[in-house]
Amino acid sequence: MRVAVAGGTGLVGRYVVEELVAAGREPVVLSRSRGVDLVAGSAGLDAALDGVDAVVDVSNVTTTSARKSVAFFDAVGRNLLDAGERAGVRHHVVLSIVGIDRVGLGYYRGKLRQEDVVRGGPVPWTVLRATQFHEFAEQTLDRVPGPFAVVPRMRTQPIAAREVARQLVTLATGPAQGMAPDLAGPRVEQLVDMVRRLLRARGERRLVVPVRMPGAVGAAMTGDGQLPVADAADAPGARGGQTFDEWLARHVVRGGRSSGRPSVRGG
Ligand SMILES: NC(=O)c1ccc[n+]([C@@H]2O[C@H](COP(=O)([O-])OP(=O)(O)OC[C@H]3O[C@@H](n4cnc5c(N)ncnc54)[C@H](OP(=O)(O)O)[C@@H]3O)[C@@H](O)[C@H]2O)c1
Repeated sequence: MRVAVAGGTGLVGRYVVEELVAAGREPVVLSRSRGVDLVAGSAGLDAALDGVDAVVDVSNVTTTSARKSVAFFDAVGRNLLDAGERAGVRHHVVLSIVGIDRVGLGYYRGKLRQEDVVRGGPVPWTVLRATQFHEFAEQTLDRVPGPFAVVPRMRTQPIAAREVARQLVTLATGPAQGMAPDLAGPRVEQLVDMVRRLLRARGERRLVVPVRMPGAVGAAMTGDGQLPVADAADAPGARGGQTFDEWLARHVVRGGRSSGRPSVRGG
């Protein structure tokens, strides 16, 4: 079974590729660095999807702008689905985020558009909404270098990116199921606290500056806006097992960034 991974060179995408190989599937990586621009819909996309049974979309744009986010996820979704239909792809799986309909962040407007495009598209689909990755603490910290670490106040129930990847592979190799149960980690955490623990584990000194986002967005982020909905708790596969502290102990080394991430592979 051939499975295309849109964004297969990214943080979670590399784990998806690795989990596909471990499951005996053949991954096909779609990314600009592999010659496929999913926004432009380059010609290489049709060729890359030849013989592909399922697509897992874990592509991403790093932005806080609603306009840029919507433009990216709209274009990527439509291009992947149109090319998928032409290639006879049977299942389109998208990684989304828990709470995008409850927290009014600009980036989330794009994720909502991505879900809408998939829902209205020509290929049978599954959307998996996951909470923030444990690695999100690193992404937050490393995107803005300098002596201060400005971190939004936010409650989250983080999960290891590898566990999200494993669930995406399980979903991609099964039948389309529409909205899958929300996927979250085992414990509720404060992002500010996660970043402080990450800095300590790395042996790095930076002043953490917590910032509460204004208005309704801040209220939702500091409340339960990004926590999984209660009725998902009992669904199979709805909880990851690795805590943030376990992840820190396994992946983060003093004086460096997290280790143990897979290198880029796949055709
Ligand atoms: N981070 C979190 O905590 C979290 C939590 C839940 C869900 N998610 C979702 O997970 C997804 C992946 O996030 P991530 O943090 O793993 O992403 P990431 O590390 O930023 O990787 C983005 C990937 O997208 C590819 N890409 C970007 N622009 C492209 C384009 N125009 N054409 C083709 N490929 C393109 C990149 O490859 P090239 O640069 O080579 O093109 C890369 O492989 C996102 O949709 C995000 O919303 C993230």
